[in-house]
Parts: sequence; structure tokens; C-alpha cells
Amino acid sequence: MNRHLLSASDLDRDDALLVLDTAAELAALTDRAVKKLPTLRGRTVVNLFYEDSTRTRISFEAAAKRLSADVINFSAKGSSVSKGESLKDTALTLEAMGADAVVIRHPASGAPDRLAHSGWIGGSVVNAGDGTHEHPTQALLDAFTMRQHLAGGKGDLAGRKVTIVGDVLHSRVARSNVLLLSTLGAHVTLVAPPTLLPVGIETWPCEFSFDLDSHLSSTDAVMMLRVQRERMNAAFFPSAREYSRRYGLDVRRMNALPEHAIVMHPGPMNRGMEIAADVADSDRSVIVEQVTNGVNVRMAVLYLLLAGAQLGESEGSDRTAEVVAP
Ligand code: NCD
Repeated sequence: MNRHLLSASDLDRDDALLVLDTAAELAALTDRAVKKLPTLRGRTVVNLFYEDSTRTRISFEAAAKRLSADVINFSAKGSSVSKGESLKDTALTLEAMGADAVVIRHPASGAPDRLAHSGWIGGSVVNAGDGTHEHPTQALLDAFTMRQHLAGGKGDLAGRKVTIVGDVLHSRVARSNVLLLSTLGAHVTLVAPPTLLPVGIETWPCEFSFDLDSHLSSTDAVMMLRVQRERMNAAFFPSAREYSRRYGLDVRRMNALPEHAIVMHPGPMNRGMEIAADVADSDRSVIVEQVTNGVNVRMAVLYLLLAGAQLGESEGSDRTAEVVAP
């Protein structure tokens, strides 16, 4: 593995499988009353959030704490950033505090890359979502969830059909998923109105379509994307009603999916817009599981970046014992 996790494309197939297998090992370990492991005792993880977040921030915090790291939560609101402090000066402050890993979410695409390659900090950088660019740990937790439901936990996603629907243009989740799923051999189709597909989509390692109904019956997993109104500076579709009629997942469309197919959403959801409340709450929906899996996947990422050990290898059980020992 690289020292940083900035993009889903930083992971080759072996790296991706190592993270997913490690997350599965950790899930088994943390599925007990006492969830804490001593692995990252004495290490410091900083959550540097310049953009609002519920799931991702809490998830990274829980992951670092379960590995016994010291966690510093920094949110731009209420910090010197609102007094105009630059990313560089903030980074130098974190470095002075001895951060071993910085988990960064930022509205500007490329901010994590800048942090990783600027020389301002010495630790690992994990991209927790940058602008409309990437969100690699979300793609990992999505792949983990798909593996559990579609490939018996540790199986192969090769050949599985994943349909990602909605606001692809503004979605870092879609980009990271396309990259990771293609590395894992899954077949991805993006479905969106033409106005919500990015320029250059033909070069992505996936297919795209404007017609949701024609893909439902052959889909193993359908992932609905939030319509990101806060990033929209123009009218991308006529009305919310029109959007949800063409691209929303309602009960009728859910019933057109194969029996084994799962319904996913990275959250936060616009219920009634891209996904009907009945679908979000149905037994086909794995949306809450995605959140649970997020903690295990982020533990695996922090563990592999900071402790550098390889749980998935032959000495796996010994390593596991080491990790668990007080
Ligand atoms: C996503 C994000 O922030 O990119 N959410 C998340 O991390 N769970 C998707 C979104 O905001 O719609």
C-alpha cells in the first residue's frame, strides 16, 4: 500500500482485497461487547473537516478510537480557518502536534493531494471526500457491503453488475466507486440525465445510460446518489418531480430488480427525491449496513497505513492475536 489513500486508483487489486479482507477480520473482532483493540495506541489521528459531514466524520472517529489512537477532531467552523488561516498553516499546526495521520474532507478537489505532497506534514493523508473528485473509503465500504451480499463475504465481485444512478456530475462517491469496482472486475453502468454526467465520461472505465428502467432487471446492486443541490449553480433538470419520475427509485422500480439485488445509498438521502422512503426502509436496502461497514473499513485503512502490518497474509491468525492482545 502507498503511504496515503487519496484516490481509489491508489489501490491495485491486491491492495483493495487486502483492505477488504482486513476489514472483514476486524469486523469479526469488533463484533463483541468490548470493541477496542490496542493496535494504534500512542498514535494520533486528526480528522480535518472543512465540509459538513455526519457519517464519514463519526465513522473515522469511531474507527481510530476502536484502534486506541488519540483522535483530534478539527472542523473548519469555529477554528482559525474562519479567520482566514490557510491550509498550509493549519497543516503546519497539525504537524507540530505530531499527527501520524490526517483524515481530510475539503470542498476543493485536490486538497488532500496538496496536503500529501506539499512536505507540510510527515504522516499519512486519507482523503475523506474532496470536492467533486474522490471519496475512496466510501467506495471501499460499498465494495465491502457488495461482497457481503453478492459474493459470500470474501468472494469475488468480478462480473457483478452495479448500476449507479443520479447526480454523477457532483459525486465523488460515483468516481471512486467506478475506479475501485473496475479494479475488482465488476461491471458498472452510470445512469443519469445528460446534464448530470461529467464531460469526458466516455473515458471512464464503465458504461453510461440515460434510461434507468432498461437496466433494472440485470442489476445486482443499485446505488442511488444524492442530488447535490448545494453544488448546483444552474438548473440541471426541470423540477424535482420530473427528476424523481425519471431517475428516482420507487417501489415499482425496486420490484423490477432481481430478487437478490441490493439497494444502496451513501447518505445523506433526499427521501422522496432520488429514493422513495418505502424503498430506503425496505428489506432490500443495505443503507444502514453501509454505515456499520464504514467503521470496519476505515479501521482497516488506518491500520494498514499506520501499523503497516498485513492481517490478510499467512500469519494472519498470529497477527490477529497480536492485535487483540492487551
Ligand atoms: C457522500 C459525500 O459526502 O460525498 N456522503 C458520504 O460521505 N456518506 C455523498 C453525498 O454527500 O451525497
